[in-house]
Amino acid sequence: GGSSTLDASEPISKSANFKNSLATLEDHFLMGTPVGDRNNWSISNYFYLQVLAACFYPALLEDDSLPLDVKQRAESLLRECDGGSVGSYTDSSGITKIKHCVSQFITRRDGGVPSSPDNIFIKSGSQTIMLKLLIHSKDSCQTGVLIPVPTYASFIIALEEQGAAIIPYHLCEEQGWTLQVEELRKALHTGRKTCNPVALYICNPGNPTGHIQSRKSIEEVIRFAAEERLFILADEVYQSCVYGDDTEFYSYKKVLSEMGSTICSTVELASFNSVSKGFMGECGLRGGYMELVNLDPAVKEYASRLFSARSCPPVVGQIALDLMADPPKPGDPSFPTFSEEVQAIKNTICKNTGRIQEVFAELPGISCQPLKAGFFVFPCLHFSLKKRQMEPDMLYCLRLLEETGLHVRPGCEYGQRKDSHHIRFVHLLPVISPVQKLSIMLLDIANWYLLSY
Ligand SMILES: Cc1ncc(COP(=O)(O)O)c(C=O)c1O
Repeated sequence: GGSSTLDASEPISKSANFKNSLATLEDHFLMGTPVGDRNNWSISNYFYLQVLAACFYPALLEDDSLPLDVKQRAESLLRECDGGSVGSYTDSSGITKIKHCVSQFITRRDGGVPSSPDNIFIKSGSQTIMLKLLIHSKDSCQTGVLIPVPTYASFIIALEEQGAAIIPYHLCEEQGWTLQVEELRKALHTGRKTCNPVALYICNPGNPTGHIQSRKSIEEVIRFAAEERLFILADEVYQSCVYGDDTEFYSYKKVLSEMGSTICSTVELASFNSVSKGFMGECGLRGGYMELVNLDPAVKEYASRLFSARSCPPVVGQIALDLMADPPKPGDPSFPTFSEEVQAIKNTICKNTGRIQEVFAELPGISCQPLKAGFFVFPCLHFSLKKRQMEPDMLYCLRLLEETGLHVRPGCEYGQRKDSHHIRFVHLLPVISPVQKLSIMLLDIANWYLLSY
């Protein structure tokens, strides 16, 4: 590799602790920790694969090797498809039976809070339809949407595409990326000087931060949205990937429903979930849903019309959604294998996130907030640059890639406070032995970080 252009503003001590940590990491890597060969990230679940295969090739329904619950599920899904074929159009907001299945899933998730299939809109992933409804690009005053910093980068692009003004509010990194209402208030006040803020986008659990909001924090945000008459866009796609100790996911819908009669019947909310970010991570199948709460019936009607202009969501994604919302239950023939697979994924996540936090706790010059949920790690790199030919974190990522072949993303793509620098990487690795691979990766980040000073 070439000479480094990075320069620390203060010398960083290469402590004995850190050297020990690297040594442990190396041992760990040499010993390896095989964690089984069936937990690759992406579609690896037998139940999902078998139902999808039988829906696409119904001759398999005659195959004795398929479990009974797989056949029954595939048959019931095919009955909902015109001509018994997954190649037919469906209703533009999704297959009715699957919308029922999703609303039952939501009711179970929220401990009995009712959900109606009429408020469920199945979609092929992203939430841009909702943006079309909220953002009026032709108005003389631009529509504003409050978004967290850092946030999921594609959402910013979608907002810009619709002509929205972005009003950033910063999450508080030092306190585990918490969302502070004072920060929202400040951002709204500033936003009102240049645009017309109508919506507040929340990402909970957070991408790329790995944080999850407490119930109290959600209540505060809802109260703020009620006072300021803001529409809440709750991106809750990481809801099933929660692993921090004493950590529980509360949906905005559930918390809202328990907040007293005026607030619970007036604050407008769209909540999103997706098969992309559930335990099986089938992002290529393109299935997701939006639940609308407290919308004026005329506006909901208009939303349906916008949806129908887009034809129907892909049937394969709808089937995946049905399987996510109604997985095998105890007593079903597929249950033992299914639960073993889910458990293996959970174990991998726990091992990986535990390992990452151990290593970063020892590493000088890098700090990482507690990881509680989601797929990502967003550690802060405490450095400054002599030559500012590009963003320091971008430069770090490029050099890391050149020197080690390791691909991580720079924090500037997600937003960060001025003069703070981060990298983002996924802690669930799509490889045969994730923990082993993770150890190599952390070792590369660590070694390279030291070499750079
Ligand atoms: C917070 C968040 N929302 C939505 C999405 C998009 O999900 P989908 O694949 O359903 O479009 C992602 C994808 O990374 C995400 O991180």
